[in-house]
Amino acid sequence: MTLLKEPDFGTPAKDGPASVSLEVDGMRVAVPEGTSVMRAAAMAGVDVPKLCATDRLEAFGSCRLCLVEIDGRRGTPASCTTPVADGMVVHTQTPKVAKLRENVMELYISDHPLDCLTCSANGDCELQDMAGAVGLRQVRYGYDGENHLDAVVDQSNPYFDFDPSKCIACSRCVRACDEIQGTFALTIEGRGFDSKVSPGAGESFMDSECVSCGACVQACPTATLQEKSVIQLGMPSRSVITTCAYCGVGCSFKAELRGDEVVRMVPHKDGGANEGHSCVKGRFAFGYATHPDRMLRPMIREKITDPWREVEWDEAIGTVARRMLEIRQRHGAGAIGAITSSRCTNEEVYVVQKMVRAAFGNNNVDTCARVCHSPTGYGLKQTFGESAGTQDFKSVAQSDVIMVIGANPTDGHPVFASRMKQRLRQGAKLIVVDPRRIDLVRSPHIEADHHLQLRPGTNVAIVNAMAHVVVTEGLIDQSFIGERCEGFDEWAQFISGVENSPEAVEPITGVPAAELRAAARLYAQGGNGAIYYGLGVTEHSQGSTMVMGMANLAMACGNIGRDGVGVNPLRGQNNVQGSCDMGSFPHELSGYRHVSDDAARKVFENLWGTTLLAEPGLRIPNMFDAAIEGTFRGLFVHGEDIAQSDPNVKHVLAALGAMELVVVQDLFLNETAKFAHVFLPGASFLEKDGTFTNAERRINRVRAVMKPKSGRHEWDIVCQIATAMGYPMQYDHPSQIMDEIASVTPTFTGVSFDKLDEVGSVQWPCNEQAPDGTPIMHVDAFTRGLGRFVPTPFVPTDERSTRRFPLILTTGRILSQYNVGAQTRRTANIAWHQEDVLEIHPHDAEVRGIEDGDEVTLASRVGATTLHAQISDRMPTGVVYTTFHYPVTGANVVTTENSDWATNCPEYKVTAVQVTLTHPVPHLLGEVAADRELAAGLVD
Ligand code: SF4
Ligand code: SF4
Ligand code: SF4
Ligand code: FES
Repeated sequence: MTLLKEPDFGTPAKDGPASVSLEVDGMRVAVPEGTSVMRAAAMAGVDVPKLCATDRLEAFGSCRLCLVEIDGRRGTPASCTTPVADGMVVHTQTPKVAKLRENVMELYISDHPLDCLTCSANGDCELQDMAGAVGLRQVRYGYDGENHLDAVVDQSNPYFDFDPSKCIACSRCVRACDEIQGTFALTIEGRGFDSKVSPGAGESFMDSECVSCGACVQACPTATLQEKSVIQLGMPSRSVITTCAYCGVGCSFKAELRGDEVVRMVPHKDGGANEGHSCVKGRFAFGYATHPDRMLRPMIREKITDPWREVEWDEAIGTVARRMLEIRQRHGAGAIGAITSSRCTNEEVYVVQKMVRAAFGNNNVDTCARVCHSPTGYGLKQTFGESAGTQDFKSVAQSDVIMVIGANPTDGHPVFASRMKQRLRQGAKLIVVDPRRIDLVRSPHIEADHHLQLRPGTNVAIVNAMAHVVVTEGLIDQSFIGERCEGFDEWAQFISGVENSPEAVEPITGVPAAELRAAARLYAQGGNGAIYYGLGVTEHSQGSTMVMGMANLAMACGNIGRDGVGVNPLRGQNNVQGSCDMGSFPHELSGYRHVSDDAARKVFENLWGTTLLAEPGLRIPNMFDAAIEGTFRGLFVHGEDIAQSDPNVKHVLAALGAMELVVVQDLFLNETAKFAHVFLPGASFLEKDGTFTNAERRINRVRAVMKPKSGRHEWDIVCQIATAMGYPMQYDHPSQIMDEIASVTPTFTGVSFDKLDEVGSVQWPCNEQAPDGTPIMHVDAFTRGLGRFVPTPFVPTDERSTRRFPLILTTGRILSQYNVGAQTRRTANIAWHQEDVLEIHPHDAEVRGIEDGDEVTLASRVGATTLHAQISDRMPTGVVYTTFHYPVTGANVVTTENSDWATNCPEYKVTAVQVTLTHPVPHLLGEVAADRELAAGLVD
C-alpha cells in the first residue's frame, strides 16, 4: 500500500454543465462556466506551477507562479484567477512565462533556509516541487540582505509547529482558517517584505483564537506549519482510508503511516461528510489508541473485591459463557442481557444484538443511544416514518434559514459547523434556540438573527408557540400539507389554542413573545428552512414530544423533502445512527422493525434457525431497576462506561454492584470495570474493519491500519461467546456480517463492503429502489406515506427549581474533549481542558459569594460533587452549566432519574441544583443565597 496523494486542481470546482470549450497546450477540454484556466488545464492533464492556489480555497493570485499566455490577450495573466472563455487558446509553457516563473522562484528561494535534505517536509513540499517544476538552477541573491531566516519557531500548539523562517506568505493558511474552518484566527500582518502570518495580535497559536483544526497545516505548501508527529517520526510512506471514531459527523481520513506507526491523520478530500476538513479530535487526538493505559489481556475475577487475574482468551470467553448460562438456568432467560455501544462498528453491534436474541434467548439488548438520541428515533418514526435525519450535510448550503435547537455545533459537531458557518457568511439567516449563548450566536462574521434564550425544559412550549404563529398567521404551506400530510386539522386546532401562543408561554419559557413571533415568521417565510438539533432537544422528559413538535413545524411550512430544509439530528457518537439501525433496541430488529412484527421476526428466525421472542426486552434503566430487585443478574457491556455516562450514578452503581456477572469489553479499565467480573480488551478504531453510519445516514468504511493489539477482533469474541453458550455464530470477515445485515434489512439490501470500497460511502436507504443511496429523504412521499401531524401538549418536567435547589443545571461538551473523556483525556487535548468547571452567571455567583475559580459544591436531590466555578454570562440567571469529561467531577452524580416519557432517555439537561462555596464564608451560606433569590423573585 502506498501513500495516496489526492490531485489538486488549483481552484474549486464549479457546478453546471461542461459548456465552455478551450484549448490548453494543444489539448481540448470542456468545463463549466466560471472555471479557472488553471483548473481547466489540470483537467486537460496540464499542471500549471502554483504556490498560492489549492482547490479547497478560492483563488488569491498572489504568488505569480501560474502565469500563462492566452492568444489574443495582452500580458501574462495568472491562470488561477482568470476564468475560462469559449474558444480560448492557452499556452502554459512559453519561454516568456518560464523566465518569469524562474525569477519568482529565485526570489522565494533567496529568503528560504535551504535545508531541504534535513527538513521535515522533504518530499512533501510544494516549494521544493515548484523549484523543480520551473527548472530553477541558480539563485543570484544571497542571504546578505534582510531575510527571515532567524524568525522564532512557535511550538506552543501541542500538535503542530509554526516556523516563520520557511513562510512564503502565500496566505493559504489564513484563507483556510477563514474559508474552510471559519475561525478567522490568522492574519497577514505588515506589507511587502514585512508581511508575516500572525495568530491574533502577536499571540502564540496556543493563546490565540485557534481551535487546532489543522486546516492551515494541511493548506501550507511548505514546512512552515508542520505536524509535530511528522517532525519527530518523519514523512509517512503509506496510507489507509478510514473514518473518525469520535462524533456523528463521520469524517473520512487518510491514516498516514510510517511502518506500523500512524504519523498523521489527513482529512480525505473525497470524504462525503467532511470533504477534506476535520477538527482537532479527528486529526490529532488519536494517541489514545497506543496509550499505555490500554488493556491488552483478558482478565477475570470471582468477586469484584478480588484482584484481577490475567487469563488466555479461551478461559475468559469460556467464563463469560459458563456464568451467563448458569444465571440463565437459575433465574431464567430474562436475567441476562447486553448493552451495545455507539462507539463500535455496525458489524460489532449487529453481532452483539444477535448474540442476545439468539444465544441469550431474550430481547434484553439496549444501546447507549438510549441516553442520547432514542427520542429522535421515536419522534421521527411517528411523524415521518423513518428514525433518521432527513438531509445530507451538503444540504445546508441551500438553506436560507437555519434553526439550531439544543445543539452547539462549533463544539459538538465542528466540521459540520464549519459548513454551516460558510452558508451563514453567505447570508443565510440564523435562529438559535438555547438557554446558553453558544458561540454560534455571535462569532466572526456571524450573528444570530434571533437567540431564543429559553429556560431549560421548555423546548416544547417554544416549538408549539412557533407553530401557533405559523398556523394562526396563515403562514402554512397549504399545498404541501394537503398533498403530503395527515392529521393536520386536529393538530391545527390544538396548536391554535391560546395556551400555545407566544404571549401565553412567555412566562414559562422566558422568551419575549415578540422575538418568538419574529423567529417563527422568519422560519416560515424566509425560504428553505432547516432545523438542526442535538441533545438539548432529546435529553428531556419531553424529548420525544419535542422531536415530533419540530417535525410538525417543518411539515406545516413545507420544509421537508428537498435540498436546504429538513429536520436533522446532530448525532453525538460516531455510530449512534448505526447502533440504532442495527437493531440494538429491546423492541426493534434491524431496520426499526418491531419485535412483535411476525413477518419481520420470521426473516430472522429463518436465517438464524431459532425462535425469537415477540415481546420487547428490558431497556437500560429497566435493567438497573431489575438488578436492584434481583431479577436481572448478568450484563455484557460492550464499549460503554455506564458508571460514568448514565444518570443518577448512585443508582447505576447499586445496580452494577447487585449483579452476579458484569462483563466489560473496553480499551481501558473504566469506571464500570470496577464492578466487572470479566474484562475483555477491546480494539481501537485503528484496529477495526467494518462500517460506521453517521448523522446523515452515511455508511462509511472503517479500515484497520494495524492488527488488534489484544490479538482478537471484537466481533469474533462476541461470536465465540455465543458459540460457547451453544448457539454457533461464525464469520470469516466483517464483510460477511454486512452481507447478513443487508440480507435481513430492507434499507440496507444494496450495501456491501465491495460497494463501499467502490463508491466511498452511501446513505441508506440503499436498495433496489435507491441503488446509489438516499441523500435526501421523503422527497415525493414520506416513508410512512403521509407525514403525520401529532399534537404535542407541553407538560412541564417534574424537575423544578425549589427553595432548596433554586438553580437549573444543564450540561454539554466542549470541542477538545469527548463525552466521558476516556479517549481525549489520554491525548494532548488535555492542554485545552484540564477539568470540568461550573459556568455560573455573575448574579448567581455574587449572591452566593462565589468568585471566579472558587471551588463550589454542586448538589441536587440525588447527589453532590465539587468543581471550580467559572463566572460567565453565557447563561441566563438561574441556570448553571458544566461538562462531564472527567470522572473526578462526576457530573452525573447529580443528574436525576427523570426521563423521556416515550423512550426513557434521561433528562440530563434539566436538574434542579444548589451551588455553594465548598469552603463558605459564614455570612453567605447557600440557604441565605436561596433566600435572597426568593426575595428577588428568581425562583418559585
Ligand atoms: S488550526 Fe484551524 S483554527 Fe487554528 S489557525 Fe489553523 S485553520 Fe485556524
Ligand atoms: S504559513 Fe504556510 S500557508 Fe501560511 S503563508 Fe506561510 S507558507 Fe503560506
Ligand atoms: S467533526 Fe467529528 S467526525 Fe469529524 S474529525 Fe471532528 S470528531 Fe471526528
Ligand atoms: S497560483 Fe496563481 S498566483 Fe499563485
